[in-house]
Amino acid sequence: MNVDGTPYRTIWLAEDGWTVEIIDQTKLPFSFEVIRLQDCAAAATAIRDMWVRGAPLIGATAAYGMALAMRDDPSDANVAASAEALMATRPTAVNLRWAVDAMQALLAPLSPNARKKAAYIRAAGICDEDVAICSSIGDNGLSLIHNAWEARGKPDRINVLTHCNAGWLATVDWGTALAPIYKAHDAGIPVHVWVDETRPRNQGASLTAWELEKHGVPHTVIVDNVGGHLMQHGLVDMCITGTDRTTASGDVCNKIGTYLKALAAHDNGVPFYVGLPGPTIDWTIDDGVRDIPIEQRDITEVTHMTGRTSGGSVETVEIVSAGSNAANFAFDVTPARLVTGLITERGVCAASKEGLAGLYPEQAG
Ligand code: MRU
Repeated sequence: MNVDGTPYRTIWLAEDGWTVEIIDQTKLPFSFEVIRLQDCAAAATAIRDMWVRGAPLIGATAAYGMALAMRDDPSDANVAASAEALMATRPTAVNLRWAVDAMQALLAPLSPNARKKAAYIRAAGICDEDVAICSSIGDNGLSLIHNAWEARGKPDRINVLTHCNAGWLATVDWGTALAPIYKAHDAGIPVHVWVDETRPRNQGASLTAWELEKHGVPHTVIVDNVGGHLMQHGLVDMCITGTDRTTASGDVCNKIGTYLKALAAHDNGVPFYVGLPGPTIDWTIDDGVRDIPIEQRDITEVTHMTGRTSGGSVETVEIVSAGSNAANFAFDVTPARLVTGLITERGVCAASKEGLAGLYPEQAG
């Protein structure tokens, strides 16, 4: 997508042909900075410290992390050690495991001197596939937005609520939940987005709002508790979120707070859709509440907030009494029964075992 007229992906190779460049998402929306990753340890840090985040981009960064590792040391021992280091960075997004498994399966049978080239080619392939997948999610979700707009008699505003950031910054390009919104906007549908701020790290306020603004999509940032009120007053036509892991039976794990939005949508008859690429489906589990590990992050993300002062400096301040404890659960699970449909690169399906199996027959056991 464009940043001030320049087209960007979220991860790419530098001109030297081997260094990996990323956008430092911890600096947005106040400054746009590119960071160079020169070894696997840097890729692992980028994922753990959320310089990059979002399930598909985490997978792409891990793939390039394996390529950087093969440049330094293509031994069997380093394939295993690098995979382990990358896998330890974040527990919830399943694309990480998917990408690391794919790289290991590619590299294991190769001789060490063939590994570097093969790893770079595969990592680039994973990125290109993600762009194609997200573009197709956009096309499939566009029809839903278009139909809802037509069904309402083509009003001058159609309202979509989203949570966290599932835009192009969370993927390699286009995004998952935001891809249909970009495509609808580009097709001339007057889409307006309610952007949940998404405490504690504010991915909605600092990332989703930023990228929508850069693309010219009308949007309004709201605090996380507003969605239910808006839905009660007919101000949300549909919700679209992303997901970090979806079970084979359609349970959706996504940023903390997604479940509460789905409950409010259910109570108010508002369709609740989830955009997801195939690699975000974990075919090994059915029960998301029981089986998906939920990342718990440092409590300073809850007790502190970062923002720009009127003087222009970016500062972090404490917002909780020093004597209070805090907890920081990063994700929750929305049961399939609350999800109206899953928007995938292969089409839209019911959030159910049968629905997913219909679109991915080769995966369903
Ligand atoms: O902790 P993050 O920022 O990596 O979590 C990302 C999300 O939960 C997003 O909502 C997203 O939908 C998943 S990635 C497209």
